[in-house]
Parts: sequence; structure tokens; C-alpha cells
Amino acid sequence: MEDTKRPSWSSYISFIIAAIGSAVGLGNIWRFPYVTGKYGGAVFLLTYLLIIIFICAIPLCLELALGKFFKKDTITCYEKISPKLKWFGQLNLITAILIPAFYFVVGGWIINYIWIFLTNNIPSDFSVYFSELNSSPYQPIILTFLFLFIVAIFPYRGVNKGIEKANNFMMPTLAVALILLAIVAISLPGAKEGLEFMFKPDFSKFSEELILTALGQALFTLSIGMGAMVTYGSYLNKDVNIKKSAYTLIFFDTLVSILAGVMIFPVVFTYGIEPTAGASLAFISLPQIFLNMPFSIPCAILFFLLLFFAAATSGISLMETSTACFIDNFKISRKKAVVILTLIIGILSIPSALSFGALENFKIFGKTIFDSLDFVTSTILLPFNTLIICIICGWFASEITKEAFGEGKFAGLLKFLLRYILPLVFAYALIVGL
Ligand code: PHE
Repeated sequence: MEDTKRPSWSSYISFIIAAIGSAVGLGNIWRFPYVTGKYGGAVFLLTYLLIIIFICAIPLCLELALGKFFKKDTITCYEKISPKLKWFGQLNLITAILIPAFYFVVGGWIINYIWIFLTNNIPSDFSVYFSELNSSPYQPIILTFLFLFIVAIFPYRGVNKGIEKANNFMMPTLAVALILLAIVAISLPGAKEGLEFMFKPDFSKFSEELILTALGQALFTLSIGMGAMVTYGSYLNKDVNIKKSAYTLIFFDTLVSILAGVMIFPVVFTYGIEPTAGASLAFISLPQIFLNMPFSIPCAILFFLLLFFAAATSGISLMETSTACFIDNFKISRKKAVVILTLIIGILSIPSALSFGALENFKIFGKTIFDSLDFVTSTILLPFNTLIICIICGWFASEITKEAFGEGKFAGLLKFLLRYILPLVFAYALIVGL
């Protein structure tokens, strides 16, 4: 049935869980702790909170409202506001296809790490191991494909039988794993120092770069700027309150990010690694530490399972976004759409999977293919797409802002911010990013 009739969520809770599943991803568990570390801990956290509540909540409401209002894929939604805006929906689709091309490579590494810990094939030096893994000409590709196939199964099966089921299982498991690991972390000797780093602001660390990073992080973590929330919103029933849903989503997404910090910083301070260790934190420093920790193997497995569920539920929403566009625009069945997209994403992800090995020296403006994709999507496309949706809805589509914010004083404030402040903020972020 889902092939012909537009699907809808079987309950409000299922929608909220799936939307949290989209939002909670590598951005929360892997990226949030290391950018917080890099930008001085608590000051970053505070800035991030203000940005997410007063700025990024607004495009989140708009995306959900847009989908809910037209009940269509991203391209058609913009086309319905004005046929001239179709290109803009297409740009969202391109973004939704480009993100998996690097995001799923990380998913592949996660599968590999779960496997080595499960089978007890644990290397003694993770730094050597990680570079060996990536220098293989085929292993990163196979791993990426494996992750892609696992993710693709769920949009293939449809919204209720696939996406909801996956999220209803993965998200509660993720929550339990995260809480367990956070408890282990706060019982470590470095817990006090770690938590102080995270929660006690040192305002001297405040900078312009910090604000821009917090803004980029907030967009990425809320899955804003590529139509994922438009798509999930399009399966909503009429009576759902968008503003309330958006803030519920923000609450849980932020809670997970903070818990991820609570899980990671005590470990970092207990074992004396740099909190700014960057992307290598999850795949080199942390696994190395796990080996010295109490309950090392179960903790490591739990940690990588947690990362896997986070990445998979976000991956599912990315694929569903492009799947919905293909179904509605090319008038093909869901199954066909998913198969075609799996092929496209598979091919596109090959060069980025090889970016740490065979194609390590192939650089575009000094960046590897993996880093270029990350840069083009997170720093250019997400803020650009967000800027455009703010302008379109703020100035030309009052029916969408009404759906998004409802009425009342707070709605008035959000609308004011949307029209006069947000375009400036995102235009500025874009210019500086470029
Ligand atoms: N929000 C996801 C994360 O935090 C990433 C994502 C971005 C997912 C855009 C879907 C769309 O990792």
C-alpha cells in the first residue's frame, strides 16, 4: 500500500522517536564532544544552547511545517509555494545525497570496530590500526557498502514497517547504552575535572569562530538544511503541534549531546588525552583507553553499538529524504527508488571511503575528498539552504509560518527573529565559511 498512498506515522510517539533518531547521530556523540573540547568546554555549551533555542529552532519548525502543510517531498513542497522554487528543492535533494557519501564511511568504520571488539581481535595500537584499515584499497569501501545496505533496508520496507520499527528498537537501546556508559564514566577518578571542564564556563575562550562553529553544529545536529525534517513532517497528521514537537526534539537532542560529553570528558581527563583530539578521538584515543578501563570490552562494544545506532537512524532519515523525492518526482515505486539511490550513494561514497588511504594525496583546495564533502555540505549547503527557507517562509509564505509557530507572543518573537535576524545570521555564517 505504501507504494501508492502517502504513508503516515502510526502514532505521534513514533514520529518523535524517528525525528530524534534523525537528529541524534554522529553529530551528537562524535562531533559535539570534540568541538566542545576544542572551543573551551562550558562557554561553547552555553553559546550552543542559546543558538539552538533562539535561532535553529526556527528553521526546524519551518521544515516540519512545510512538510506537514503540503504532505509532499521536499522538491514538490517548494514547487507548490512557487514553481520558480523547484531548483531549491533540488538543491536540498543534492545535499541529502552528498551527506551520506561521507557520513556512511564513518558508519563503515563503526561496524569494523564493533566486529573487532566482539571477536576479541583487538589491536595493541589503534593509531597504527586505524591507518592500516584505511590504507587498504577495498576494506573501507566494503565497510561503507555494508553500512549503506543495512541503512537502506528500512526505507525499502517503508515508513511504518521499516523506519518506525528501526527507530523504535534502536533509539531506546541507544538511550540505555548512553546512560550506562555515562555512569561508568562518572565513577572514574578524572570525573570531577571532566565535568568541570564541561560545565564551568571560562569566558576568556569566547570567540567569533566559536559562535560560527556552534551554529554549524546546531544545524547539523538538528538535521536542518537538506529536507530531512520536511520529509518526516510530511508524514504527520493534521492535529500535531509543530512548535511543541520542535522543542521536544531539541530537548532530547541536546540531552544526548550533553550525556555524550558526560560520558567522554571524564575518560579524557582520567587518562590524560587532549579533549581537543578531534575526529580521531572516537577511533584512536578512546578505543585505546577502553583497553585500560574497568569492563573494557563490554564498554567498548556498548560505545560502538551506541555510535552505530546513532549513525544508522540518521542515515535512515537521509535516505528517506531522497527516496521521497524520487518517488514523488519520478513516479517510481519506493523499492525502485531505494535501489537506485543505494547505487548512487554507493558510487559517490567510494572516493571518500578511499580518502584516508589510496586517495589520501588527492586534494581539492587542500582538502581530501572526504573533508571536501564535509565542508561543502556542513559549511556551505546547510547554511545556504537554511538561509533560503528562512527568506521564503519569512517573507513569502505566511501560511507556513502560521503552521510552524502558531499564534501568541512567543510566535510573534519567532516570526520577528525569522524575518529580520536569521537571514543576517545565516548569510554572515555563509560568507565567513566561504
Ligand atoms: N543530525 C545528524 C547528526 O547529528 C546528521 C544529519 C544531518 C542527519 C542531516 C540527517 C540530515 O549526526
